[in-house]
Amino acid sequence: MSRPGQAGSIGDSQPDPARVANYLLGGTVNYPVDRIAGEELLDLYPGLQLLARQHRAFTVSAVAWTARTQGIRQFLDLGCGLAPAPSVADAARAVNRDSAVVYVDKDPVVLSHVRALEAAGPGLGAVLADVRDVAALLTADGLREVINLGEPACAVFGGTLSCMDVDEARATVRGYAWAMAPGSAVIASCAHFDDATVTERIAAVLPQSGWRNHSRADIESFFSCAGLQVTQGVVTDVRHWPLAGAELAQPAIVVGGVGIRG
Ligand SMILES: C[S@@+](CC[C@H](N)C(=O)[O-])C[C@H]1O[C@@H](n2cnc3c(N)ncnc32)[C@H](O)[C@@H]1O
Repeated sequence: MSRPGQAGSIGDSQPDPARVANYLLGGTVNYPVDRIAGEELLDLYPGLQLLARQHRAFTVSAVAWTARTQGIRQFLDLGCGLAPAPSVADAARAVNRDSAVVYVDKDPVVLSHVRALEAAGPGLGAVLADVRDVAALLTADGLREVINLGEPACAVFGGTLSCMDVDEARATVRGYAWAMAPGSAVIASCAHFDDATVTERIAAVLPQSGWRNHSRADIESFFSCAGLQVTQGVVTDVRHWPLAGAELAQPAIVVGGVGIRG
């Protein structure tokens, strides 16, 4: 999603969680203040860069897999952030050229970049919204103009559920799963650290992120609470996901999967 020299002119005095993540992913939509915060996070947990890259590789590969095996041509990138290319649209359109994608984030910094870089063109949209308000988002003009909810769609939560408490995350996944047509899918993944102190340490550097260290059982419950049939049999450590890429240093893992609505 990022392109060289395209960082905008707003909000460059404080680190922004999405721009810090962009820095960790090797992108260019970030400022010195974001790079300093990113380096502080890497001091706390040197494996974070690899984790961020592996996490993104999972999301992109899961989108392509869902497009290919489920025939889904509509994607909602919920908490889209500012990940460098390939984007969700790149992954979906590599399978079906006419795939439609709506990018959603609650961070105005993200939306200003996404509108300029990623969401221009037919079949693409960007909506500034809190994804926890499912009804408001699903009736928003910017979404309805691009996504036909009468047809199967895929809700993508690449790390976004880590910014909510467990009950909110369950209610949010359930909201989308039940509102979408049969045959729809949910992709969800969260980083998990065995070190219980990591949440406070991340909050000390980036309090705006609201990041939570969900347990593996909690992440599994995001699918089961919505009655989603998880593909590949399990919600898994994404290192086991086909094509996800490099080895990730323990004790951090990314747990995720694809759930299908029957
Ligand atoms: C960890 S980043 C992940 C970005 C991207 N999905 C990726 O794969 O790299 C989480 C993103 O979710 C957004 N976010 C968190 N909570 C949200 C909410 N309730 N509504 C909308 N966006 C949210 C944040 O602003 C941030 O951009």
